[in-house]
Amino acid sequence: MAFSPEFLDEIRARIGLADLIRGRVRLTAKGREFQGLCPFHNEKTPSFTVNEQKGFYHCFGCGAHGGVFDFVMQSEGLSFRDAVEKLAADAGLQVPVDTPEERDRARRRQTLHDVMEVAAAYFEKTLRMPEGKTASNYLRGRGVDDPAIARFRLGYAPDSRSSLKAALGREGIGEELMAEAGLVISPDEPGRSSYDRFRGRLMFPITDRKGRVVGFGGRILGDGEPKYLNSPETPVFQKGRLLYGLPLAAKAARDQRALLVVEGYMDVIALAQGGFENAVAPLGTALTEDQIGELWKLVDEPVLCFDGDAAGGRAAVRAAERALPLLRGGKGLRFAELPSGDDPDTLITREGSDAIARLLAGAAPLSAFLWRTETRGRTTATPEARTALWTRLKDRTQQIADPDMRSQFRNAFRATLWPKRETGARFGRNAGLGRNRPPAMAPAPAESPHATLTQVDPLSVAAKTLLAILINHPEFFNEVEDDIGTVGFGSAPLDGMRQELISILSGAVSSDPDTIRSMLMERGLSAGIKDLFGDDLIRTSQFIKVGASRRQVKSAWDECFRVLKDAAAKGEMDGSAPVQEYSEAEWEKWLARKRMMLNQPED
Ligand code: UTP
Ligand code: MN
Repeated sequence: MAFSPEFLDEIRARIGLADLIRGRVRLTAKGREFQGLCPFHNEKTPSFTVNEQKGFYHCFGCGAHGGVFDFVMQSEGLSFRDAVEKLAADAGLQVPVDTPEERDRARRRQTLHDVMEVAAAYFEKTLRMPEGKTASNYLRGRGVDDPAIARFRLGYAPDSRSSLKAALGREGIGEELMAEAGLVISPDEPGRSSYDRFRGRLMFPITDRKGRVVGFGGRILGDGEPKYLNSPETPVFQKGRLLYGLPLAAKAARDQRALLVVEGYMDVIALAQGGFENAVAPLGTALTEDQIGELWKLVDEPVLCFDGDAAGGRAAVRAAERALPLLRGGKGLRFAELPSGDDPDTLITREGSDAIARLLAGAAPLSAFLWRTETRGRTTATPEARTALWTRLKDRTQQIADPDMRSQFRNAFRATLWPKRETGARFGRNAGLGRNRPPAMAPAPAESPHATLTQVDPLSVAAKTLLAILINHPEFFNEVEDDIGTVGFGSAPLDGMRQELISILSGAVSSDPDTIRSMLMERGLSAGIKDLFGDDLIRTSQFIKVGASRRQVKSAWDECFRVLKDAAAKGEMDGSAPVQEYSEAEWEKWLARKRMMLNQPED
């Protein structure tokens, strides 16, 4: 339904553009206009202007432009319709409905929302009454506190065939509507009366984006099947479009530019209680395109924290596959890998919020996740294996519809499979592909990342110094990111640590040396770290120590970096004899030749 121009003008007149924007941006008057820092991109000097008379805002930095409705759509991720409804409500205006059917539908949706709200309030109240005692004890036993119960509006459906039905009846709600809302079940046989769908269950209200209750998940108290009973699909409850906890998570997600996606209701609640209010969950099904779209309205790279079991792993792969065709400018997913047997609830309950922070800091970007998925449990040491891997990765990237994203992914994979020397791009911010990165085309060294670092030559001392500096002074990484990305460390264990460190530091939210160390250890580099810091030279160097001044660190860095750079220029580094630079066409030719040798079909 279209809104009439008069109605839209009425809203514009009542909602001052500058007032609206002031809710999010600090504006200063500049002639006839206002100026401020653009809320739609990161900037330090204001290029965002608001012209109240003309009724639009414009950013000279990112090109964002529009009026009141656009502002709400852009900043809150709402559709035009939702933006109009929201501003109309703010302005105290009734949204007019123009066709009888539309009016009927609107009224029906409205009544369904009303019914769900009455039910949610009833369940909430019941949880606090004596008959809700077992349920509230159950919650207490699982560590859910009162503020969390209130925040998520948890409730209890009594173990009875008709207590909700009676409560709704007392509010004048007819049985037909109760059935349409999915709250009672009407048996097919005539003459048999309808009865409550949810009986003896802990109730989790599920809301839409605006916070209106549209459905419920009901958990059995203790063990039993089904563990959760959910509302059936209704005109207001469509599982594939909703995310549990979305409106509660939205603000924190925007503020922190981070959003966690977990599998279960209980995970969302445990995380919020532990300080991570920015978590949502799908409703027990695989993430849909709609849901991914919802996530991207809030942040560019939501982090999936699925259960550390086979099902969680499969769900993550499925989400990645769903996301690939949808990727475009800056949007992506990250993947946190939970310890086997854990879900976010058990992890945070056992190890506290730090464990979650570490988990998030180590989350892999989509490219790295695909790499890991395709390499896990396989060798990448032989040219044959790498060629097959390249084929699989190419198939994956083929799914990416956006041409820029597609070539970014391909280039990152290719550069990781066949690193060229002297190029920084492959280990830049977006290209850190995590573990299992194979060595250069030179013969695959036998050492694993667990191998010890035993070199004593000047080159390895220089390399070790750089590594130790980065670990002890992670904040220094930004400054030297390009340096460290452009020089290989020759020996496999050292270079493996260099690559892991780049991948960790370019995604890191922490600049705490201990956290960085433990992340390296989680990636299998415990032995390497022990050797590195056990080395006498490293151990006794003042300029590497955590307390060293920036100037000391910098001069140590420059000196060691120059040693490595010079050696690389002379081709002195072992295991990294200069690799020829190939163009894309040459790679394809090379691959074709290899395939013929391997007798593989052309793809
Ligand atoms: P989980 O079994 O992991 O649930 O299922 P949970 O939320 O972590 O609950 P606890 O900690 O065991 O109590 C993940 C999600 O899958 C859906 C629910 O959305 C649940 O939150 N699910 C699960 C169902 O819809 N029905 C079921 O029978 C089980
Ligand atoms: Mn779970």
